[in-house]
Amino acid sequence: MVNHPLAATRLTAMREKNTEPGSFRAALHELTTMLVYEAARAFPVERYPIDTPVAPTEGIRLANPPLLVPVLRAGLGMADSALALLPESSMGFVGLARDEETFQPRAYLESLPADLSGIPVLVLDPMLATGGSLEHCCRLLAERGCTDITVICVLAAPEGIARLERSGLPLRLVTASIDDQLNDKMYIVPGLGDAGDRQFGGM
Ligand code: URA
Repeated sequence: MVNHPLAATRLTAMREKNTEPGSFRAALHELTTMLVYEAARAFPVERYPIDTPVAPTEGIRLANPPLLVPVLRAGLGMADSALALLPESSMGFVGLARDEETFQPRAYLESLPADLSGIPVLVLDPMLATGGSLEHCCRLLAERGCTDITVICVLAAPEGIARLERSGLPLRLVTASIDDQLNDKMYIVPGLGDAGDRQFGGM
């Protein structure tokens, strides 16, 4: 959990129902920067020789920059700020829809490297609600050999956290808030509504 006054003010702007899409997107960008910054604390670094204008010294670089994977569509609003903070990263994309017959999540887009062994992945999705889609997304990554997944989300419901814990997948979660519960329409309560509609307008 990222517990910081500046994260809390951005989250408040996102929760407030009268916040316009432009301001909502700006708050999501800034909050994503903070969440990715915290997630990156655990990243291994390596030292290498550099020269300042004055003298040789030692520099630091990420030993193994992560692949960033925004989950379409709501995760798109997190992509730019994550990539700005991790310019050495590359980006894949996963698009998930609900199968109309089975009601299970189904990937309509999997733009990912075939082999993810040895590559840490940051999954970007603002809302962890039931956990069904995020579990599906993380399984796709694990099937490609990924053993190091960090899910970055703005809000998490206890139900979704429990599901990811039960999944046995190699993941950790970074979030700005664990909210109370899901309602009967599977919205997070108190939540912020539909994160896609709030960013891009209702369809
Ligand atoms: N997805 C959203 O965008 N909002 C919720 O509250 C739950 C899932």
